[in-house]
Amino acid sequence: MNLLMLSASVFSAQTSPKKNYHTTARREDYFLSFHRPPDMFPKKAMANLKTDKNMKTRVKPESRLIDKLACNAEVDSRIIYPSYKSFDEFIDVDRLRSLDGYLRQRIKRRLQNRDDLKFYTGPYRLEKGSPARPGSRMIYLAESEKPDSYFDLDKTELWHPTVYANEFALLMEFIGTLPFQATGRILIMYDDAPREIPAHRDHIKTGICHEFLWFRTNFKKPFYMLDQNTNEKKYVEGYSAWFDSVNQYHGSDASDGLSYSIRVDGKFTDEFRAKIPQPKINLASTPSYWASF
Ligand SMILES: [Fe+2]
Repeated sequence: MNLLMLSASVFSAQTSPKKNYHTTARREDYFLSFHRPPDMFPKKAMANLKTDKNMKTRVKPESRLIDKLACNAEVDSRIIYPSYKSFDEFIDVDRLRSLDGYLRQRIKRRLQNRDDLKFYTGPYRLEKGSPARPGSRMIYLAESEKPDSYFDLDKTELWHPTVYANEFALLMEFIGTLPFQATGRILIMYDDAPREIPAHRDHIKTGICHEFLWFRTNFKKPFYMLDQNTNEKKYVEGYSAWFDSVNQYHGSDASDGLSYSIRVDGKFTDEFRAKIPQPKINLASTPSYWASF
């Protein structure tokens, strides 16, 4: 198998739920792939990079951007909002923290071009008049072969690494240690100015629970969950969180200097799924249900 085939096979392997690169053989393949020279990833992905310069974005009229839908679907009575499930006990936090300077250096380089795509909250923002694109930026390390759709995040077969995966190879190696059998969208979100991310929900379908992990290498970003009924905020205290993005809101306060976080969507391994308690109602509440035990 030549090196290009090896590199491509690693990502296609992630799309099969039967294969798990956490076995010794797959893990070796995965790590090997990120030590390839920068031109080893598929040209197709390189040609479709998402930046503000090459992407057209559709903005709905402001009047349609506000979350007017009730956020009071029934959930298990034991759930307490706001809440999130920390994954710090399941991941290598020391290794994650060790990537902080590496990430900072590479993100700073990108500030000079300023063509990374602006972060979009989606339409379900809590506050009327809050910006849908508050100014923070995104770097797609994996992107879909189809037009962006939030409901494709768990269709891991659609997602392929971008050329930026080479630039952040050590981060990608770390992502390879997370409890996913396959990964979909991989996104770095960053800002170099004190701007908040308005409280928002990611979608409103209570029967859908996306398997993802939000994580960070330092504590600079004041990221919170918000109970819209009490206005209580719960800030993420550790390095990682899986959270209910439907029955509660989330956002970030402004912070000075460069701040960043990463979100990886995908499919958890069967072994990891076996640890997760399932609510009888409202699948989207699963992270908060788990956090309630
Ligand atoms: Fe969000």
